[in-house]
Amino acid sequence: MKDANFLKAHNARSLWHPMTAPADSHKSPPVIVTAASGVRIRDIDGHEVVDAVGGLWNVNLGYSCQPVKDAIAAQLEALPYYSIFRGTSNDKVIELAEELRTFFEPDGLTRAFFTSGGSDSVETALRLARQYHKIKGEPGRVKYLSLKKGYHGTHMGGASVNGNANFRTAYEPLLPGCFHIPAPYTYRNPFNEDDPARLAQLCLQALEDEIAFQGAGTIAAFIMEPILGAGGVIPPHESFMPGVEKLCRKHGILLIADEVITAFGRTGAWTGSRLWGVKPDFACTAKAITNGYFPFGAVMIAEGVAQVFEADETGKAAIGHGYTYSGHPVGAAAALACLAETKRLNVPVNAAARGAQLWEGLKALQAKYPVIGDIRGGHGLMLAIEMVADRATKAAPPKALPGQVQAAAYKAGAMIRVSGPNIILSPPLILTPADADIILSALDMALAAV
Ligand SMILES: Cc1ncc(COP(=O)(O)O)c(C=O)c1O
Repeated sequence: MKDANFLKAHNARSLWHPMTAPADSHKSPPVIVTAASGVRIRDIDGHEVVDAVGGLWNVNLGYSCQPVKDAIAAQLEALPYYSIFRGTSNDKVIELAEELRTFFEPDGLTRAFFTSGGSDSVETALRLARQYHKIKGEPGRVKYLSLKKGYHGTHMGGASVNGNANFRTAYEPLLPGCFHIPAPYTYRNPFNEDDPARLAQLCLQALEDEIAFQGAGTIAAFIMEPILGAGGVIPPHESFMPGVEKLCRKHGILLIADEVITAFGRTGAWTGSRLWGVKPDFACTAKAITNGYFPFGAVMIAEGVAQVFEADETGKAAIGHGYTYSGHPVGAAAALACLAETKRLNVPVNAAARGAQLWEGLKALQAKYPVIGDIRGGHGLMLAIEMVADRATKAAPPKALPGQVQAAAYKAGAMIRVSGPNIILSPPLILTPADADIILSALDMALAAV
Protein backbone atom coordinates (compact mmCIF):
# COMPACT_ATOMS: atom_id res chain seq x y z
CA MET A 1 0.00 0.00 0.00
CA LYS A 2 1.18 3.55 -0.74
CA ASP A 3 1.91 5.54 2.42
CA ALA A 4 -0.75 7.59 4.19
CA ASN A 5 0.60 10.94 3.02
CA PHE A 6 0.57 9.87 -0.62
CA LEU A 7 -3.01 8.57 -0.36
CA LYS A 8 -4.31 11.67 1.43
CA ALA A 9 -2.62 13.97 -1.08
CA HIS A 10 -3.85 12.09 -4.11
CA ASN A 11 -7.41 11.08 -3.15
CA ALA A 12 -9.29 13.73 -5.10
CA ARG A 13 -6.62 14.32 -7.76
CA SER A 14 -7.63 11.56 -10.15
CA LEU A 15 -10.99 10.33 -8.92
CA TRP A 16 -14.44 11.82 -8.60
CA HIS A 17 -16.61 10.64 -5.73
CA PRO A 18 -20.30 9.77 -6.22
CA MET A 19 -22.82 12.17 -4.65
CA THR A 20 -20.20 14.89 -4.00
CA ALA A 21 -19.02 17.97 -5.89
CA PRO A 22 -15.45 17.28 -7.10
CA ALA A 23 -14.19 20.48 -5.44
CA ASP A 24 -15.67 19.42 -2.08
CA SER A 25 -13.43 16.37 -1.99
CA HIS A 26 -10.44 18.73 -2.12
CA LYS A 27 -11.85 21.09 0.51
CA SER A 28 -13.07 18.37 2.91
CA PRO A 29 -11.00 15.26 2.29
CA PRO A 30 -12.93 12.05 2.98
CA VAL A 31 -12.14 9.46 5.63
CA ILE A 32 -9.89 6.87 3.96
CA VAL A 33 -10.94 3.44 5.22
CA THR A 34 -8.27 0.77 5.00
CA ALA A 35 -9.51 -2.12 7.15
CA ALA A 36 -12.60 -3.51 8.84
CA SER A 37 -13.69 -6.37 11.04
CA GLY A 38 -16.98 -7.29 12.71
CA VAL A 39 -19.02 -4.08 12.72
CA ARG A 40 -15.96 -1.82 12.96
CA ILE A 41 -14.02 0.07 10.32
CA ARG A 42 -10.48 1.43 10.70
CA ASP A 43 -9.12 4.47 8.88
CA ILE A 44 -5.71 5.25 7.49
CA ASP A 45 -4.69 6.92 10.77
CA GLY A 46 -5.62 3.83 12.79
CA HIS A 47 -8.85 5.32 14.25
CA GLU A 48 -11.46 2.58 14.69
CA VAL A 49 -15.22 3.17 14.97
CA VAL A 50 -18.52 1.29 14.88
CA ASP A 51 -19.92 1.55 11.37
CA ALA A 52 -23.46 2.82 11.93
CA VAL A 53 -23.89 3.08 8.15
CA GLY A 54 -23.31 -0.63 7.48
CA GLY A 55 -21.16 0.14 4.42
CA LEU A 56 -24.03 1.67 2.44
CA TRP A 57 -27.01 -0.22 3.92
CA ASN A 58 -25.45 -3.40 2.53
CA VAL A 59 -22.93 -4.97 4.92
CA ASN A 60 -25.71 -6.60 6.96
CA LEU A 61 -23.51 -9.40 8.33
CA GLY A 62 -20.50 -7.21 9.09
CA TYR A 63 -17.01 -7.23 7.66
CA SER A 64 -15.84 -10.63 8.91
CA CYS A 65 -18.36 -12.92 7.24
CA GLN A 66 -15.99 -15.77 6.43
CA PRO A 67 -18.46 -18.04 4.57
CA VAL A 68 -19.06 -15.32 1.96
CA LYS A 69 -15.33 -14.59 1.61
CA ASP A 70 -14.58 -18.30 1.23
CA ALA A 71 -17.34 -18.76 -1.34
CA ILE A 72 -15.97 -15.88 -3.43
CA ALA A 73 -12.42 -17.23 -3.26
CA ALA A 74 -13.50 -20.77 -4.17
CA GLN A 75 -15.65 -19.59 -7.05
CA LEU A 76 -12.82 -17.48 -8.46
CA GLU A 77 -10.82 -20.71 -8.67
CA ALA A 78 -13.62 -22.86 -10.12
CA LEU A 79 -15.22 -20.46 -12.61
CA PRO A 80 -14.42 -16.74 -12.32
CA TYR A 81 -16.90 -15.70 -15.02
CA TYR A 82 -19.36 -16.98 -17.52
CA SER A 83 -22.32 -15.24 -19.06
CA ILE A 84 -25.92 -16.45 -18.81
CA PHE A 85 -27.05 -14.74 -22.01
CA ARG A 86 -29.00 -16.99 -24.39
CA GLY A 87 -27.41 -20.39 -24.78
CA THR A 88 -25.26 -20.59 -21.63
CA SER A 89 -25.72 -20.74 -17.88
CA ASN A 90 -23.65 -21.60 -14.84
CA ASP A 91 -24.16 -23.95 -11.93
CA LYS A 92 -24.09 -21.37 -9.15
CA VAL A 93 -26.72 -19.10 -10.63
CA ILE A 94 -29.15 -22.01 -11.09
CA GLU A 95 -28.66 -23.03 -7.47
CA LEU A 96 -29.14 -19.43 -6.32
CA ALA A 97 -32.37 -18.96 -8.27
CA GLU A 98 -33.81 -22.02 -6.53
CA GLU A 99 -32.76 -20.68 -3.10
CA LEU A 100 -34.23 -17.25 -3.82
CA ARG A 101 -37.45 -18.84 -5.01
CA THR A 102 -37.82 -20.55 -1.64
CA PHE A 103 -36.82 -17.42 0.27
CA PHE A 104 -39.31 -15.18 -1.56
CA GLU A 105 -42.14 -17.74 -1.86
CA PRO A 106 -44.10 -16.07 1.01
CA ASP A 107 -44.01 -12.83 -1.03
CA GLY A 108 -45.41 -14.67 -4.06
CA LEU A 109 -42.14 -14.13 -6.00
CA THR A 110 -40.91 -17.19 -7.83
CA ARG A 111 -38.49 -16.16 -10.62
CA ALA A 112 -35.24 -14.21 -10.56
CA PHE A 113 -33.61 -11.90 -13.11
CA PHE A 114 -30.04 -11.13 -12.10
CA THR A 115 -28.34 -7.74 -12.19
CA SER A 116 -25.16 -5.97 -11.03
CA GLY A 117 -26.74 -3.76 -8.37
CA GLY A 118 -29.73 -1.78 -7.18
CA SER A 119 -30.02 0.72 -10.03
CA ASP A 120 -29.84 -2.15 -12.51
CA SER A 121 -32.58 -3.98 -10.61
CA VAL A 122 -34.86 -0.93 -10.71
CA GLU A 123 -34.24 -0.44 -14.43
CA THR A 124 -34.98 -4.11 -15.06
CA ALA A 125 -38.29 -4.02 -13.18
CA LEU A 126 -39.40 -0.81 -14.93
CA ARG A 127 -38.63 -2.30 -18.34
CA LEU A 128 -40.18 -5.71 -17.70
CA ALA A 129 -43.33 -3.98 -16.39
CA ARG A 130 -43.85 -2.24 -19.74
CA GLN A 131 -43.12 -5.47 -21.60
CA TYR A 132 -45.66 -7.37 -19.47
CA HIS A 133 -48.44 -5.04 -20.60
CA LYS A 134 -47.34 -5.29 -24.24
CA ILE A 135 -47.50 -9.09 -24.04
CA LYS A 136 -50.98 -8.79 -22.48
CA GLY A 137 -52.16 -6.57 -25.36
CA GLU A 138 -52.13 -3.25 -23.51
CA PRO A 139 -49.20 -1.43 -25.18
CA GLY A 140 -50.53 1.94 -24.01
CA ARG A 141 -49.58 1.21 -20.40
CA VAL A 142 -46.20 2.94 -20.35
CA LYS A 143 -46.23 5.48 -17.49
CA TYR A 144 -44.79 5.11 -14.01
CA LEU A 145 -46.04 6.46 -10.71
CA SER A 146 -43.89 6.81 -7.60
CA LEU A 147 -43.48 8.70 -4.33
CA LYS A 148 -41.86 12.06 -3.75
CA LYS A 149 -38.86 11.45 -1.44
CA GLY A 150 -38.41 7.97 -2.93
CA TYR A 151 -34.95 6.84 -4.06
CA HIS A 152 -34.56 4.32 -6.85
CA GLY A 153 -30.95 4.61 -7.92
CA THR A 154 -29.34 6.69 -10.62
CA HIS A 155 -30.01 5.12 -14.02
CA MET A 156 -32.18 7.24 -16.30
CA GLY A 157 -35.39 5.33 -15.52
CA GLY A 158 -34.64 5.09 -11.81
CA ALA A 159 -33.70 8.77 -11.62
CA SER A 160 -36.96 9.63 -13.39
CA VAL A 161 -39.07 7.89 -10.74
CA ASN A 162 -36.86 9.30 -7.95
CA GLY A 163 -38.63 11.81 -5.79
CA ASN A 164 -35.74 14.03 -4.74
CA ALA A 165 -34.68 17.06 -6.77
CA ASN A 166 -31.02 16.55 -5.76
CA PHE A 167 -30.82 13.50 -7.98
CA ARG A 168 -32.91 14.92 -10.82
CA THR A 169 -32.37 18.57 -11.67
CA ALA A 170 -28.82 18.37 -13.07
CA TYR A 171 -29.79 15.47 -15.32
CA GLU A 172 -33.05 16.71 -16.77
CA PRO A 173 -34.84 16.15 -19.06
CA LEU A 174 -35.61 12.77 -17.57
CA LEU A 175 -37.90 10.03 -18.88
CA PRO A 176 -41.33 11.33 -19.91
CA GLY A 177 -44.39 9.73 -18.36
CA CYS A 178 -43.21 9.62 -14.73
CA PHE A 179 -45.48 11.17 -12.10
CA HIS A 180 -45.09 11.54 -8.35
CA ILE A 181 -47.49 11.62 -5.45
CA PRO A 182 -46.84 12.94 -1.91
CA ALA A 183 -44.95 10.61 0.40
CA PRO A 184 -46.53 9.55 3.70
CA TYR A 185 -44.00 11.75 5.50
CA THR A 186 -45.70 12.78 8.70
CA TYR A 187 -43.24 15.52 9.70
CA ARG A 188 -43.67 17.52 6.49
CA ASN A 189 -46.43 17.05 3.94
CA PRO A 190 -48.64 19.24 1.76
CA PHE A 191 -51.72 18.27 3.78
CA ASN A 192 -50.29 19.54 7.12
CA GLU A 193 -51.43 16.22 8.55
CA ASP A 194 -49.43 14.78 11.43
CA ASP A 195 -51.54 11.70 12.09
CA PRO A 196 -49.85 8.80 10.21
CA ALA A 197 -53.07 6.86 9.54
CA ARG A 198 -54.96 9.89 8.23
CA LEU A 199 -51.93 10.95 6.17
CA ALA A 200 -51.73 7.48 4.61
CA GLN A 201 -55.35 7.83 3.50
CA LEU A 202 -54.69 11.31 2.04
CA CYS A 203 -51.70 10.03 0.08
CA LEU A 204 -53.78 7.11 -1.19
CA GLN A 205 -56.47 9.55 -2.29
CA ALA A 206 -53.78 11.54 -4.12
CA LEU A 207 -52.69 8.32 -5.82
CA GLU A 208 -56.24 7.47 -6.87
CA ASP A 209 -56.69 11.00 -8.14
CA GLU A 210 -53.48 10.78 -10.20
CA ILE A 211 -54.53 7.42 -11.65
CA ALA A 212 -57.86 8.92 -12.72
CA PHE A 213 -56.10 12.00 -14.14
CA GLN A 214 -53.53 10.02 -16.16
CA GLY A 215 -55.98 7.27 -17.10
CA ALA A 216 -55.37 3.83 -15.59
CA GLY A 217 -54.89 2.36 -19.07
CA THR A 218 -51.75 4.48 -19.58
CA ILE A 219 -49.95 3.38 -16.40
CA ALA A 220 -47.54 0.45 -16.35
CA ALA A 221 -46.40 0.40 -12.73
CA PHE A 222 -46.19 2.05 -9.37
CA ILE A 223 -42.79 1.78 -7.65
CA MET A 224 -42.11 2.37 -3.95
CA GLU A 225 -39.73 1.43 -1.17
CA PRO A 226 -41.60 -0.39 1.65
CA ILE A 227 -39.78 2.00 3.99
CA LEU A 228 -38.26 4.99 2.22
CA GLY A 229 -34.53 4.93 2.93
CA ALA A 230 -32.25 7.47 1.31
CA GLY A 231 -35.05 10.06 1.37
CA GLY A 232 -34.57 10.21 5.15
CA VAL A 233 -35.99 6.91 6.50
CA ILE A 234 -39.73 7.42 6.16
CA PRO A 235 -41.75 4.44 7.42
CA PRO A 236 -45.28 4.73 6.09
CA HIS A 237 -48.28 3.90 8.25
CA GLU A 238 -49.06 0.17 8.11
CA SER A 239 -52.17 0.88 6.02
CA PHE A 240 -50.24 2.62 3.25
CA MET A 241 -48.53 -0.08 1.21
CA PRO A 242 -51.55 -2.45 1.43
CA GLY A 243 -53.65 0.51 0.23
CA VAL A 244 -51.29 1.05 -2.71
CA GLU A 245 -51.48 -2.66 -3.53
CA LYS A 246 -55.29 -2.52 -3.53
CA LEU A 247 -55.37 0.47 -5.88
CA CYS A 248 -52.82 -1.14 -8.21
CA ARG A 249 -54.89 -4.35 -8.38
CA LYS A 250 -58.09 -2.38 -9.00
CA HIS A 251 -56.55 -0.50 -11.92
CA GLY A 252 -54.36 -3.23 -13.49
CA ILE A 253 -51.17 -1.40 -12.49
CA LEU A 254 -48.12 -3.49 -11.53
CA LEU A 255 -46.61 -2.91 -8.10
CA ILE A 256 -42.80 -2.77 -7.93
CA ALA A 257 -41.38 -3.00 -4.40
CA ASP A 258 -37.92 -1.46 -4.36
CA GLU A 259 -36.42 -3.70 -1.69
CA VAL A 260 -32.79 -2.82 -2.40
CA ILE A 261 -32.43 -1.83 1.28
CA THR A 262 -35.31 -3.66 2.92
CA ALA A 263 -34.88 -7.23 1.64
CA PHE A 264 -33.00 -9.76 3.79
CA GLY A 265 -34.00 -8.62 7.26
CA ARG A 266 -33.19 -4.95 7.77
CA THR A 267 -36.72 -3.95 8.85
CA GLY A 268 -37.03 -6.78 11.37
CA ALA A 269 -39.02 -8.78 8.79
CA TRP A 270 -37.43 -10.88 6.05
CA THR A 271 -38.66 -8.42 3.42
CA GLY A 272 -40.29 -5.01 3.52
CA SER A 273 -43.27 -6.31 1.55
CA ARG A 274 -43.76 -9.07 4.13
CA LEU A 275 -43.56 -6.46 6.91
CA TRP A 276 -46.69 -4.82 5.47
CA GLY A 277 -48.39 -8.02 4.24
CA VAL A 278 -48.10 -7.02 0.57
CA LYS A 279 -47.42 -9.21 -2.45
CA PRO A 280 -45.72 -7.10 -5.12
CA ASP A 281 -45.37 -8.00 -8.81
CA PHE A 282 -41.64 -7.29 -8.78
CA ALA A 283 -39.16 -6.86 -5.93
CA CYS A 284 -35.84 -5.16 -6.68
CA THR A 285 -32.97 -6.47 -4.55
CA ALA A 286 -29.20 -5.90 -4.39
CA LYS A 287 -26.85 -4.69 -1.61
CA ALA A 288 -27.18 -7.23 1.26
CA ILE A 289 -27.73 -10.09 -1.20
CA THR A 290 -23.92 -10.54 -1.13
CA ASN A 291 -23.32 -8.63 2.13
CA GLY A 292 -21.84 -5.92 -0.07
CA TYR A 293 -18.80 -8.06 -0.89
CA PHE A 294 -19.64 -8.41 -4.61
CA PRO A 295 -21.74 -6.09 -6.84
CA PHE A 296 -24.87 -8.12 -7.50
CA GLY A 297 -28.65 -7.91 -7.54
CA ALA A 298 -31.81 -9.79 -8.39
CA VAL A 299 -35.26 -8.72 -9.50
CA MET A 300 -37.76 -11.18 -8.10
CA ILE A 301 -40.85 -11.73 -10.24
CA ALA A 302 -44.35 -12.73 -9.13
CA GLU A 303 -45.76 -16.04 -10.30
CA GLY A 304 -48.64 -14.37 -12.19
CA VAL A 305 -46.29 -12.05 -14.09
CA ALA A 306 -43.93 -14.93 -14.83
CA GLN A 307 -46.78 -16.99 -16.28
CA VAL A 308 -47.72 -14.21 -18.70
CA PHE A 309 -44.14 -14.12 -20.04
CA GLU A 310 -43.75 -17.90 -20.10
CA ALA A 311 -47.08 -18.59 -21.83
CA ASP A 312 -46.45 -16.12 -24.65
CA GLU A 313 -46.31 -17.61 -28.13
CA THR A 314 -46.11 -14.39 -30.13
CA GLY A 315 -42.44 -13.58 -29.50
CA LYS A 316 -43.31 -10.49 -27.46
CA ALA A 317 -41.87 -12.08 -24.31
CA ALA A 318 -38.32 -12.23 -25.69
CA ILE A 319 -36.32 -10.31 -23.10
CA GLY A 320 -34.18 -7.71 -24.85
CA HIS A 321 -32.52 -6.73 -21.62
CA GLY A 322 -29.63 -7.95 -19.47
CA TYR A 323 -26.17 -7.11 -18.22
CA THR A 324 -22.78 -8.67 -18.92
CA TYR A 325 -22.65 -9.45 -15.22
CA SER A 326 -26.24 -10.78 -14.91
CA GLY A 327 -25.87 -14.06 -13.04
CA HIS A 328 -22.12 -13.64 -12.47
CA PRO A 329 -20.98 -16.95 -10.94
CA VAL A 330 -18.84 -15.24 -8.28
CA GLY A 331 -21.76 -13.02 -7.29
CA ALA A 332 -24.07 -16.01 -7.27
CA ALA A 333 -21.67 -17.98 -5.06
CA ALA A 334 -21.40 -14.99 -2.71
CA ALA A 335 -25.20 -14.66 -2.61
CA LEU A 336 -25.69 -18.37 -1.88
CA ALA A 337 -23.29 -18.24 1.07
CA CYS A 338 -24.75 -14.93 2.24
CA LEU A 339 -28.32 -16.21 2.12
CA ALA A 340 -27.38 -19.32 4.09
CA GLU A 341 -25.62 -17.21 6.72
CA THR A 342 -28.45 -14.66 6.84
CA LYS A 343 -30.92 -17.46 7.54
CA ARG A 344 -28.65 -19.27 10.00
CA LEU A 345 -28.24 -16.09 12.04
CA ASN A 346 -31.97 -15.32 11.75
CA VAL A 347 -30.98 -11.65 11.41
CA PRO A 348 -34.47 -10.07 11.54
CA VAL A 349 -34.70 -10.94 15.25
CA ASN A 350 -31.57 -9.00 16.15
CA ALA A 351 -32.43 -6.23 13.69
CA ALA A 352 -35.75 -5.75 15.50
CA ALA A 353 -34.19 -5.86 18.98
CA ARG A 354 -31.27 -3.52 18.23
CA GLY A 355 -33.63 -1.32 16.21
CA ALA A 356 -35.86 -0.97 19.28
CA GLN A 357 -32.82 -0.14 21.42
CA LEU A 358 -31.65 2.59 19.02
CA TRP A 359 -35.21 3.90 18.67
CA GLU A 360 -35.51 4.34 22.46
CA GLY A 361 -32.07 5.97 22.47
CA LEU A 362 -33.09 8.44 19.76
CA LYS A 363 -36.21 9.37 21.76
CA ALA A 364 -33.98 10.20 24.74
CA LEU A 365 -31.70 12.31 22.53
CA GLN A 366 -34.69 14.15 21.09
CA ALA A 367 -35.82 15.07 24.60
CA LYS A 368 -32.34 16.46 25.29
CA TYR A 369 -31.45 18.36 22.09
CA PRO A 370 -33.81 20.96 20.53
CA VAL A 371 -31.86 20.68 17.26
CA ILE A 372 -33.59 17.32 16.74
CA GLY A 373 -36.85 18.15 15.00
CA ASP A 374 -37.97 14.63 14.17
CA ILE A 375 -36.81 11.08 14.71
CA ARG A 376 -37.90 8.20 12.51
CA GLY A 377 -37.55 4.47 12.98
CA GLY A 378 -39.35 1.76 14.88
CA HIS A 379 -38.89 -0.90 12.20
CA GLY A 380 -35.56 -2.61 12.60
CA LEU A 381 -32.21 -1.08 11.78
CA MET A 382 -33.12 1.88 9.63
CA LEU A 383 -33.47 5.08 11.64
CA ALA A 384 -33.04 8.82 11.14
CA ILE A 385 -32.74 12.09 12.99
CA GLU A 386 -33.96 15.20 11.16
CA MET A 387 -32.24 18.32 12.41
CA VAL A 388 -33.88 21.76 12.43
CA ALA A 389 -32.83 25.30 13.30
CA ASP A 390 -36.07 25.81 15.20
CA ARG A 391 -38.62 23.20 16.27
CA ALA A 392 -41.57 25.59 16.02
CA THR A 393 -40.94 26.62 12.40
CA LYS A 394 -39.12 23.42 11.37
CA ALA A 395 -36.64 25.66 9.53
CA ALA A 396 -33.65 23.84 8.05
CA PRO A 397 -30.49 23.79 10.18
CA PRO A 398 -27.34 25.68 9.09
CA LYS A 399 -25.88 23.87 6.08
CA ALA A 400 -22.64 23.01 7.84
CA LEU A 401 -24.31 21.48 10.92
CA PRO A 402 -24.95 17.89 9.73
CA GLY A 403 -21.32 17.59 8.61
CA GLN A 404 -20.14 18.89 11.97
CA VAL A 405 -22.28 16.33 13.81
CA GLN A 406 -20.91 13.61 11.56
CA ALA A 407 -17.30 14.60 12.21
CA ALA A 408 -17.85 14.84 15.97
CA ALA A 409 -19.62 11.45 16.08
CA TYR A 410 -16.76 9.90 14.14
CA LYS A 411 -14.28 11.24 16.66
CA ALA A 412 -16.50 9.86 19.43
CA GLY A 413 -16.60 6.34 17.99
CA ALA A 414 -19.28 5.97 15.30
CA MET A 415 -19.45 6.49 11.54
CA ILE A 416 -22.89 7.97 10.76
CA ARG A 417 -24.29 9.14 7.44
CA VAL A 418 -25.70 12.57 6.72
CA SER A 419 -28.06 13.38 3.91
CA GLY A 420 -29.36 16.96 3.82
CA PRO A 421 -30.60 17.70 7.36
CA ASN A 422 -30.87 14.00 8.19
CA ILE A 423 -28.58 11.72 10.15
CA ILE A 424 -29.19 8.20 8.90
CA LEU A 425 -28.41 5.01 10.81
CA SER A 426 -28.30 1.66 9.02
CA PRO A 427 -25.77 -0.47 10.92
CA PRO A 428 -25.03 -4.15 10.28
CA LEU A 429 -27.78 -6.46 11.53
CA ILE A 430 -25.31 -8.34 13.74
CA LEU A 431 -24.88 -5.28 15.98
CA THR A 432 -24.58 -6.10 19.71
CA PRO A 433 -26.30 -4.11 22.49
CA ALA A 434 -22.86 -2.68 23.41
CA ASP A 435 -22.27 -1.56 19.78
CA ALA A 436 -25.68 0.15 19.75
CA ASP A 437 -24.76 1.96 22.98
CA ILE A 438 -21.54 3.20 21.36
CA ILE A 439 -23.55 4.65 18.45
CA LEU A 440 -25.93 6.39 20.86
CA SER A 441 -23.19 7.79 23.06
CA ALA A 442 -21.24 9.01 20.01
CA LEU A 443 -24.37 10.82 18.81
CA ASP A 444 -24.91 12.26 22.29
CA MET A 445 -21.35 13.57 22.45
CA ALA A 446 -21.56 14.93 18.91
CA LEU A 447 -24.83 16.76 19.50
CA ALA A 448 -23.46 18.20 22.75
CA ALA A 449 -20.33 19.40 20.94
CA VAL A 450 -21.92 21.32 18.04
C1 LIG B 1 -34.14 1.81 -2.52
C2 LIG B 1 -32.95 1.86 -3.42
N1 LIG B 1 -33.08 1.55 -4.71
C3 LIG B 1 -32.04 1.56 -5.56
C4 LIG B 1 -30.78 1.89 -5.11
C5 LIG B 1 -29.63 1.92 -6.07
O1 LIG B 1 -28.76 0.90 -5.80
P1 LIG B 1 -27.24 0.93 -6.37
O2 LIG B 1 -26.59 2.09 -5.69
O3 LIG B 1 -26.70 -0.41 -5.98
O4 LIG B 1 -27.33 1.10 -7.83
C6 LIG B 1 -30.60 2.23 -3.78
C7 LIG B 1 -29.26 2.60 -3.26
O5 LIG B 1 -29.09 3.05 -2.15
C8 LIG B 1 -31.71 2.22 -2.90
O6 LIG B 1 -31.58 2.57 -1.62
